[in-house]
Amino acid sequence: MFQITPNRRDITDKFIKHDSTMLNQVYGTDQVTPYWIADMDFPIASPISHALQQLVHRETYSYEFDSKTVFQPISDWNRDRHQLALNPEHFVQVPGVLSAIALLIREFTQLGEGVLIQTPVYHQFRRLIESAGRKAVSNTLSIDNQRYVMDVEQFEQQLASGDVRMVLLCNPHNPVGRVWTQTELSTMISIARKHNVLVISDEVHADIVFEGSTFTSVASLGYENSLTILGSPAKNFGLNSLSNGYIYSDNESLRQQIKATTASMSLDHGNVFSTYATIAAYQHGKEWFDGFLAYTQQTRDWIVSFMKAELPDVTTFLPEGTNQIWFDFSGLGLESNELKSLLTKQAKMALTPGTWFGEPNENFYRMNFAAPREQVQTSLQLLKTALDSRS
Ligand SMILES: Cc1ncc(COP(=O)(O)O)c(C=O)c1O
Repeated sequence: MFQITPNRRDITDKFIKHDSTMLNQVYGTDQVTPYWIADMDFPIASPISHALQQLVHRETYSYEFDSKTVFQPISDWNRDRHQLALNPEHFVQVPGVLSAIALLIREFTQLGEGVLIQTPVYHQFRRLIESAGRKAVSNTLSIDNQRYVMDVEQFEQQLASGDVRMVLLCNPHNPVGRVWTQTELSTMISIARKHNVLVISDEVHADIVFEGSTFTSVASLGYENSLTILGSPAKNFGLNSLSNGYIYSDNESLRQQIKATTASMSLDHGNVFSTYATIAAYQHGKEWFDGFLAYTQQTRDWIVSFMKAELPDVTTFLPEGTNQIWFDFSGLGLESNELKSLLTKQAKMALTPGTWFGEPNENFYRMNFAAPREQVQTSLQLLKTALDSRS
């Protein structure tokens, strides 16, 4: 069952998110409640703990390549949760989502070629593209009635220009919280097909989708020139440090090419702890996950109604999915340094600056709300008090 309080609080000081040195470096103080890194502050599902304990008790770690047995539970999970039909033979094991993206960029584009991203977007996308010597081409998202939408016209022009070799989608989208609809995705795919551009879809947040929205995987859209990173159990099951990733494609030739590359680098067999944790998660984690999703959805609802009632000058973008909420503080009329100081020193919140994601306006911040609700409530009430004390 999903529970909020960890059994052992004392281990948190090793986590990057809570690390004093890191917090001091980024926020100039460690006296802040961390809402920046996108992992969760909850203990994992007990079937996963149980599988890991069994492995610890085994005390023997001979070579054990068990990655294949994981693909059936992942297929079953996606069939049950998203009505998504995946062939278990069409997966490729990779060490994690980011390493998969790095690998695909190197495999399918050349130095100097363009990879399109939809900004503001998860900051590591740009880093991976640029550190591979490729060019990040920014297809900026637009805001329509307090909701982010794709700029299809700009997208079409960018692909038509011939400067883009690959599109890197974030589906659902971190940080703006959109769960792209089937119509939006199909429109993009038809443009990509027209210009014969490869589409990579990072779907690590796929399961964290709230009532009213439906997740659509690019894998279901029948585009032969696409690869889906169906993610890893990092975000949905909180296994960030037990990373594992799975690339999916129905295109035999793309799959064989990736398999040959991962095998040539010995990246294809996974780690026994992450493999067993993943199997336990997808086979026995449903009850825990449903509890987690219901809890974070209620936290989201609380935040949205609190912000609307108490801090109406802050624009709050309703997350349709992901445990991230995106705020625009421009309406407060503060200088960016003043805002930063208010957030960190007075409200004592470590929010992720929007500029990290390629958002030029310094008034945007992201908050990870996969945290105990009472803590979130205290932080936002402190923010309100801080703002009230200014007027
Ligand atoms: C969109 C997205 N992709 C990938 C990752 C990281 O995945 P991994 O740790 O498996 O490399 C994150 C983590 O926040 C993310 O938000």
